[in-house]
Amino acid sequence: MKKPKWNLEWDDGMSVGIPEIDEDHKRFISLIDELNLAITERMRAAEINRRLLHVIEDTNQHFEREEHFFRERQYPNAEGHARSHNNVRNTLKKIQDSFMPYGLEAEWLDAALMIKQILINHILDEDMQYANYFKSIKAK
Ligand SMILES: [Fe+2]
Ligand SMILES: [Fe+2]
Repeated sequence: MKKPKWNLEWDDGMSVGIPEIDEDHKRFISLIDELNLAITERMRAAEINRRLLHVIEDTNQHFEREEHFFRERQYPNAEGHARSHNNVRNTLKKIQDSFMPYGLEAEWLDAALMIKQILINHILDEDMQYANYFKSIKAK
């Protein structure tokens, strides 16, 4: 597994070769940056929460788009990939549920900052698998 740098931005190495999906990835990485900025700048809890919800909504829409794409193109590992999406969804949900408006603990802030790592790892590990698969069948 490639270990991304903390402040990794989207780069061509993260391209799955499908422009709409690359656009999704770029957008949610920038939303996560906005969330991280709110945390490191110690913005109001309400603002942190607003940005967190935005990341979660956007990620969920993106996951649905990918799953729809897999069904359309009959990707053999669609189920395994959907399971991995569910794991990420559950982790994000836990962070969202443990949000406390009157006092954010260091532990919660650390968990929220980990979202970037979780999503980038998902792109570099799981998403790259379907990227390679679709590239390989195109090459045939
Ligand atoms: Fe993705
Ligand atoms: Fe994915």
